[in-house]
Amino acid sequence: MLKIAVLVSGGGTNLQALIDAQNNGVLSSGRIVMVISNREDAYALKRAEIAGIKSAVAKSEDEILSALKECKPDVIVLAGFMKILSKSFIENVEAPILNIHPSLIPSFCGKGFYGLKVHEEVLKSGVKVTGATVHMVNEIPDGGEIVAQKAVEILPDDTPEKLQRRVMECCEWVILPRAVESICRKIEPKILPKPQKYAGRGIITGMTPSGGKMLAYFIMGRSVSSKARRFERSGDDLIIKLTRDDKNFDPSLILYAPLRVLGDNIIITNGDQTDTVYDTMKSGGTFEEALRTREYEPDPPHFTPRISALMTPSGYKQSILKRAGKYFFEYDYTPGKGRLIHTYDHDVMAGGVLPSFEGEPREVNIPDDMESFAGELWQELGEDYRVAMYVRYYDGNSYTDKLYNTQEA
Ligand code: GAR
Repeated sequence: MLKIAVLVSGGGTNLQALIDAQNNGVLSSGRIVMVISNREDAYALKRAEIAGIKSAVAKSEDEILSALKECKPDVIVLAGFMKILSKSFIENVEAPILNIHPSLIPSFCGKGFYGLKVHEEVLKSGVKVTGATVHMVNEIPDGGEIVAQKAVEILPDDTPEKLQRRVMECCEWVILPRAVESICRKIEPKILPKPQKYAGRGIITGMTPSGGKMLAYFIMGRSVSSKARRFERSGDDLIIKLTRDDKNFDPSLILYAPLRVLGDNIIITNGDQTDTVYDTMKSGGTFEEALRTREYEPDPPHFTPRISALMTPSGYKQSILKRAGKYFFEYDYTPGKGRLIHTYDHDVMAGGVLPSFEGEPREVNIPDDMESFAGELWQELGEDYRVAMYVRYYDGNSYTDKLYNTQEA
């Protein structure tokens, strides 16, 4: 779920439209986490309070920037925000900024055109239609790319106030929530961190929004022997088979069971440590005890990390054994979230060495739909290096799975 910050100055009817859209499902790909007002008397602050949304008063651009740093939004919405933001402010902010303007841009916009003033000018000009525009914010006031527009007719007895009300009701409150939803959908984080060309082998474990369990294991390969592999089901386990006769490799690093089921537990790893964990746990030991007896792979110059995961009914663990040390991570299930660990951080460094995965397993979004999750992940692995991928979804009683191979049997 993306985080949205809304900047306001006044009544906050557009903020209210976003809150309502959040409640009725029109806005579902993002959540408003913060309302920032440049005026302390803005009624919008009251609306935020009633909706239980955190708010702050920030008058200068520096204050706004520090409020934004605190909530780290993915999307920023200017909803009735009456201050023109400077070029340096916009450059300083990574998240896309959207603005709602109460006219059909490029008419009646730019410096000096805000609030009621816009509608006064519209009436003075004698045009027969007006409306509202949602646009991306850049350094030109009301000058960024247009995202959505909606028009209304001007009526003979319109006053600026009447027209403003009609433009808000018929246009602004309709197009703003939809535009925010569509931007959120566009920037929804992908499964693999970008930019990323070569992640090596990767494991995802987590929970779907409705409480099912999801796991994925993928292999990307560059060498001929690494690419000549296929995943195959073996009962409830997963094994790897070679598709060509090749003596030029260490079979223990290439051929192993990436997934084994032990009672209610599932062990997923990128090597024969699957068996070490399985055997240790079967005789009463733990995931950690098993992996402490192992280390990174003996494949200079990369010294590929050994990555492993354990899914139990109540939580999951991930681990990476690399030259820098042995690391263990433990997580409770969170609906809609999972963790991804992979062997290489990014592409080859100078000297042809693949850098090991750095930091904590990355949080990823886990949807309910296994087909679309698997399809998206397979796509993201890219055609150059992906070799095989396995995804399994448990609903509590039984599982469904999906297997991808680039190599024919
Ligand atoms: C709205 O018409 C909005 O489009 C406009 O201020 C009015 C009040 O909004 N914004 C601008 O003119 C920005 N240049 P609110 O009821 O959401 O506070």
